[in-house]
Amino acid sequence: MDKYEQVLELAKRRGFLWNSFEIYGGTAGFYDYGPLGSTLKRRIEQIWRDMYVVQEGFMEIETPTIGIEDVFRASGHIGGFSDPLCECEECGEAFRADHLVEDELDIESAEAMSNNILEDSIKDNEIPCPVCGGKFGSVYSFNLMFNSNIGPGSGRPAYLRPETAQGMFINFLRLARYYREKLPFGVTQIGKSYRNEISPRQGVIRLREFTQAEAEIFIPPEDKTHPEFDKYADTVLNMYIEDDNGGVVRPIRLDDAVKEGYIAHEYLAYHIALTKDFLLRIGINPDKLRFRQHKKDEMAHYAADCWDAEIESDRFGWIETVGIADRTNYDLKAHTDTSGTELSIYREYEEPETVNQFTVKPDMSKLGPSYKGKAKTIAEKLKQLPPEELEKDNIQVNVEGEEYTVPSDMVEFTEETVKVSGETVFPHVIEPSYGIDRIIYCVLEHAYNKELINEDGEEDYRIILRFKNEVSPIQVAVLPLMSKSDLIKPARDISARFRKKGLMVSYDDSGTIGRRYRRNDEIGTPYSVTIDYQTLEDNTVTIRDRDTMKQIRLSKDNIEDTVYNLING
Ligand code: GAP
Repeated sequence: MDKYEQVLELAKRRGFLWNSFEIYGGTAGFYDYGPLGSTLKRRIEQIWRDMYVVQEGFMEIETPTIGIEDVFRASGHIGGFSDPLCECEECGEAFRADHLVEDELDIESAEAMSNNILEDSIKDNEIPCPVCGGKFGSVYSFNLMFNSNIGPGSGRPAYLRPETAQGMFINFLRLARYYREKLPFGVTQIGKSYRNEISPRQGVIRLREFTQAEAEIFIPPEDKTHPEFDKYADTVLNMYIEDDNGGVVRPIRLDDAVKEGYIAHEYLAYHIALTKDFLLRIGINPDKLRFRQHKKDEMAHYAADCWDAEIESDRFGWIETVGIADRTNYDLKAHTDTSGTELSIYREYEEPETVNQFTVKPDMSKLGPSYKGKAKTIAEKLKQLPPEELEKDNIQVNVEGEEYTVPSDMVEFTEETVKVSGETVFPHVIEPSYGIDRIIYCVLEHAYNKELINEDGEEDYRIILRFKNEVSPIQVAVLPLMSKSDLIKPARDISARFRKKGLMVSYDDSGTIGRRYRRNDEIGTPYSVTIDYQTLEDNTVTIRDRDTMKQIRLSKDNIEDTVYNLING
């Protein structure tokens, strides 16, 4: 068994991760979180909330997981959110064409290849179907959004959201009002996203339903310095730099990465460092974490710069777990154009400014019959044109997709000097986007250890999840040495006191004490408290540390405070 199989075997057996729909044979791309998995997930999400909502002050919102067509037309997902698909002509099995090419030709990435190039590559190299050895047909783009309908009958077309982000962009005006129209401000959302991945072959890494934790931070377009950049200036990033000869990891201080032009600006850099902080806090091994800048040809359609936090795993190599992007004003502008509602902010100047302003007045009486009914809209459009356009003899305007030519002698310009007190701006957006499920798998893999131990002269293996205390689903085990009523009563009493303190307890009075310790090591319980006959004599219990297996005796009075303080640092 490789590490992935060992981790998944443990995760299934102990109630972290289960295949969804198992009794019906399961379906690739869906996983259930069992009791311990759900608790681990909540704890990781809670730490994310602590860092982004409490510390950074980016309030959380919750929007529908289903969205109407307009939203995804504006965002570009209907037009371009697709992967290249090809089907076997014999068995009908579907594959991602770029993955077939990568595997067969042993190249690192075929993501940037067009459908035609992929198709030629599959044909020229006679790549066979991995299932039946058959031939492939043409390569075409498969949109990854799940679609549905709202309401009965044909209904209104709708899509399951492929990212939580759009729900935050379309609420921009309400959010701006909430934040009293002052930039910068941020908003967060943790929730499910859906992508109808083509034949997901990477188990828990590529899912069709997964949880994202995303922050959208709206900043002034002209100023991308971060007021608290110094906090992270000396953070060292393992930056993965690629050139024609391959890639190298280069440790670099954050301030140097900005100065040397690797990271576009301080705002993005600050959020890359915050991501590193988060990932280390939840237990990612720092030696298996690196940050990689997207190449120009892999950047999403909306991004000006994007970095991935990649975590190394045994089977899958470096996995993209977080994307930190400068989305510019792409989304706010796109939703403005599609909805007709301007998603901008009015920014008052400190002092009113004097500006020259052109007013444009087309002479309606001179406009011909084809302009009928459109004159007012044309006048509005003319006002939006830059002065140099208005100087042309024939001015072009586009109204509802139709081009109109307006001769300049039909337009009257006036120029006046006015005082203005502010301006309208479209903020830029910095977006850290976390894939919580991938991170959870990496936390499990990095916590997983199998070690040889020697207890009472006997050698044995123990499996142990070395979780950070803050993420351990079960925080303390309460174990009466024997299942006898005189030990059970004080043990239950201690459990109740732990629970009252808010600690998650596993109470277990069955089986040998060694086996119970092993079970708790396997689920990552950091501390086990054992009640034995000495407890009845001198009021003490033993507390065992999961990692060192050392035990010490302590008074049972205030044991709940002791464990609480150990867990919460
Ligand atoms: N809003 C930006 C966005 O969605 P993305 O890079 O497409 O960006 C962000 O996704 C993160 O979501 C990824 O870094 C990854 O961790 C996670 N993710 C994306 N697709 C996934 C999938 N099919 N299964 C599990 N996680 C996925």
